[in-house]
Amino acid sequence: MIRVAVVGCGLIGRRRAAEIHRHPASSLGLVVDIHPPAAAALAEEFDCPTATDWHQVLEDPSLGVVVVSTHNGLLAEITTAALAAGKHVLVEKPMGRNLAEAQAMAAAATNRVLKIGFNHRYHPALARAHQLYRQGLVGELINLRAYYGHGGRPGYEREWRGDPVLAGGGELTDQGVHIVDLIHWFAGLPQEAFAYLQTVVWPIEPLEDNGFGLFRYPNGVVANFHTSWTQWKNLFSFEVFGREGSLSVSGLGRSYGIERLVIARRRPEGGVPDLTEEVFDQPDSSWRLEWEEFIAAITQGEVYQGTPAEGLAAMRMLQALYQAARTGAVARV
Ligand SMILES: NC(=O)c1ccc[n+]([C@@H]2O[C@H](COP(=O)([O-])OP(=O)(O)OC[C@H]3O[C@@H](n4cnc5c(N)ncnc54)[C@H](O)[C@@H]3O)[C@@H](O)[C@H]2O)c1
Repeated sequence: MIRVAVVGCGLIGRRRAAEIHRHPASSLGLVVDIHPPAAAALAEEFDCPTATDWHQVLEDPSLGVVVVSTHNGLLAEITTAALAAGKHVLVEKPMGRNLAEAQAMAAAATNRVLKIGFNHRYHPALARAHQLYRQGLVGELINLRAYYGHGGRPGYEREWRGDPVLAGGGELTDQGVHIVDLIHWFAGLPQEAFAYLQTVVWPIEPLEDNGFGLFRYPNGVVANFHTSWTQWKNLFSFEVFGREGSLSVSGLGRSYGIERLVIARRRPEGGVPDLTEEVFDQPDSSWRLEWEEFIAAITQGEVYQGTPAEGLAAMRMLQALYQAARTGAVARV
């Protein structure tokens, strides 16, 4: 039985705790939050001890794994310390507040599993689209297009997401890191990046509430996306276009709508393409699948997603986007 500590018992810490508890090979050994009621709520639900100081995790050899789900400002510090103390770590996205923090985490992961929480890869429509793409269903890749957003909320400037020191970036980082990871997953690392940022509704300057990103690959493939905290009706859309057809994922369940994959295959003679729709209307299983993969990586050395290299790639892509937005010039990734 692998004993796990969860550091940061907010929205995501609770999600992780439920999967740790459910998995037959893992159990909750400690839940840590600087805000005692947050840890107490998990302790009551999952019957485990609590702490307020995360350093306590480092001193307990019976805790083999740490889930780091605090605000972004502590992800790197806790992760590097936990790895140095010999723990395996699942750290939430983004991989720190910037590339330098991501590099520090990757460097500390010498003989332990470090996994970055890119749970979107486990959403069934995205996983299926990726599988079909890799099988060559839509032919050679031409371009990718994505939209992701929600409507934010009044008071953002008082939350960690509205604080540059605790968040590292605005919406381009928050939901945008999932999009850049998906782009990297399908198409690899781009060569060039360009971006425009806006801060138009929420008073969170210098952070952005909207990010518009553009990537170009050496072979001419282009990816573009828009992430938004002024997307009043929640939206997720990720589309992959090949010479022979397209794969269009929409929805992530719940407020983002039912998850669907529309497969279009163009006809040689033109006209309306062959269309197939796959609907994934089961409850979100991404957190469970991600946890199962992490445990298999630890116990059986299985290949896993969200490796340090993949986390670093996403942070390089974000860094190039921010640089382009700042300078007004195309940036090398
Ligand atoms: N994979 C995803 O789709 C996804 C979705 C949302 C958030 N996230 C990531 O998960 C992380 C947490 O986000 P959230 O929405 O759960 O935030 P949250 O604000 O709900 O939870 C963060 C928790 O960390 C606690 N905390 C703060 N400082 C601490 C400290 N020194 N020691 C211990 N606990 C401390 C806070 O009290 C709070 O309970 C962020 O990195 C975020 O980017 C990932």
